Formats: sequence, structure tokens, C-alpha cells
Amino acid sequence: MKILVLEGSPHKKGSSNLLADNFIKGAVENGHEVQVYDAAHAKIGACQGCNACGMNGDCIQKDDMGKIKELILNTDMIVFVSPIYYFGISAQLKTVIDRFYSFNSKLMNKGFKSALIVAAWDNSEMVTAPARDHYLAICSYLGFENKGMILAGGCGTPQMTQNTKYPQAAYELSKSL
Ligand SMILES: Cc1cc2nc3c(=O)[nH]c(=O)nc-3n(C[C@H](O)[C@H](O)[C@H](O)COP(=O)(O)O)c2cc1C
Repeated sequence: MKILVLEGSPHKKGSSNLLADNFIKGAVENGHEVQVYDAAHAKIGACQGCNACGMNGDCIQKDDMGKIKELILNTDMIVFVSPIYYFGISAQLKTVIDRFYSFNSKLMNKGFKSALIVAAWDNSEMVTAPARDHYLAICSYLGFENKGMILAGGCGTPQMTQNTKYPQAAYELSKSL
């Protein structure tokens, strides 16, 4: 299937992208077609809430979200990748999700699959739980089929991340698809 990996960290070679790389490796080995989009370095304005799109039309903002929309509407699965920033996903990734608004109807109950990969410094469930719950709420609302979550505590740097179980877990997640 087609898999779109949406990366939301400003660190191109950081912890969350390291986990994403492991996910991608397994996915490619299993014959999936993977596209990676670095959402953190894209030019994407925050949703203005103007409602000009009516949740199913053109956004007034002409920026890199047009490309992401095209990629999403041509994929089978979306993988959300982010560092944990103050108990949530990064603003960079949240900005992308808010911009789903203009094509909300095209996303809802259309059979998309999804997964979540987050990396945090602290090794405590409490640190990743809010992002997990937020993601699951979005899955429930949009009718995405959650294929798995990598909630990687103790992954404050790529070096720390390498010494955890999470790179292997990310690899096994894509192998299980
Ligand atoms: C603005 C900011 C907020 C952060 N908030 C948290 C946090 O609430 N809990 C935590 O454990 N780590 C927090 N961190 C640490 C990052 O989640 C951690 O370093 C992670 O590995 C970064 O991933 P990346 O390399 O993919 O960007 C924060 C880092 C930054 C820069």
C-alpha cells in the first residue's frame, strides 16, 4: 500500500525521525510504497478559521499544504511523526493537522489507515499519554484505522533513542502491516 510519513520535527536527524527511518525500512522491505514529507520545514500557515472552505473546498492560503493535501488524498496510510513538546505533538505537525479542515470531508470515513510515532526525553507514560489520546481522538473522529503507536519515552537524543527498544518496535510495526 501507499504510506505517507509526515515528519514534524525541526531536527532532520533527530530522535523521532530516527524512529521513522526504522519504520520506513520495514515498510520498504515489505513492498510498501513510502513517501516522506518533512512538514517541519515546509511553509504552512496556521488555519485562520475563516471557514471559506466550508470543510470541503479550497483553502484561502496558498502554501505547501496544497502538496500535502495531494499526497494525503493519494495515500492509504498516514504516519504522524513528532517530538513531544510540552506533552503534545509539535506545533509544526499540529499546524498540518489543523489544515485538514479544508478537506475534512474527503478524509472522514474514507478508509485511511494511520500510525503515530512520538519521541520524548522523559521515560514516563505520563509524558506521551496526551499525544496518544489526541491522536486516538483524531482517528476516532476521522474514521482512521489505527495500525499502531510508538510512544517512545527516554528518547531525548538520537543516541539515547538507539539504546531503547523503540527503533526495533518501529521496524516491527511496519513489518506487521
Ligand atoms: C520545545 C520543547 C518542548 C519539549 N517538551 C518535552 C516534554 O514535555 N516532555 C519531554 O519528555 N521532552 C520534551 N522535550 C524534549 C524532546 O521531546 C526530545 O528531545 C525529543 O527527542 C526531540 O525529538 P526530535 O529530535 O525528533 O526533535 C521538549 C523539547 C523541546 C525543544
